[in-house]
Amino acid sequence: MPASGLFISFEGIDGAGKSTHIAALADAFRAAGRSVVLTREPGGTPLAEKLRELVLNDAMDPLSEALLMFAARRDHLQQVIEPALERGDVVLCDRFTDATFAYQGSGRGFDVGVLRQLESWVQARPDSTQLRQPDLTVWFDLPPAVAAQRLASARVPDRFESQPVAFFERVAAGYAARLNESPDRFARIASDQTKASVWQQLQQTVEQRGWLRAAGAPA
Ligand code: TYD
Repeated sequence: MPASGLFISFEGIDGAGKSTHIAALADAFRAAGRSVVLTREPGGTPLAEKLRELVLNDAMDPLSEALLMFAARRDHLQQVIEPALERGDVVLCDRFTDATFAYQGSGRGFDVGVLRQLESWVQARPDSTQLRQPDLTVWFDLPPAVAAQRLASARVPDRFESQPVAFFERVAAGYAARLNESPDRFARIASDQTKASVWQQLQQTVEQRGWLRAAGAPA
């Protein structure tokens, strides 16, 4: 019997340092014999990647922004995430719906009621009354001022990365609100620490759920 699929999303403000840890976790799952699908939002399919280009670079009103995020998500769910979970793969997704609540809802101040409606349409499943949600959401929680310092020396910013620290304070509050709504789904990782310590927290989080054995631990 194939292993049951596992859906893990990763969240945090820009500069929180998700990428290297997602790649390391993918390696750990592969080493444990699992098939891993590494993907991201907005994006993950040819159509959703086109929408990503638009939404990260072109000016638009907040409703258009929210609609494009959820349009990209719908395609991604149907083309990539659901089939992978059906096969029993581990899906590691760099951002998912919590980012829309944090960035468009809390950051931009867009109507959260509309976001909930879109979430309920886009994440509906034909065979269940429950919405598709990640089995685990890892929130890399980093103080916005620290993230801003890290980003300043990095790359050319997109529409979101160029926002002021106050915007990221609101985004972080948005993540905290989502965690409070679904505490069992979320794991908050204190990310103002060394890379090694952040990795250790992430490993523990996954091992606690029985999804990976501790390295070197007996079977
Ligand atoms: P990310 O992939 O983390 O950026 P990068 O590849 O530059 O590290 O995220 C892209 C941006 O999109 C990020 O600033 C957050 C934003 N975003 C939203 O505003 N709403 C959403 O629903 C999602 C998924 C992302």
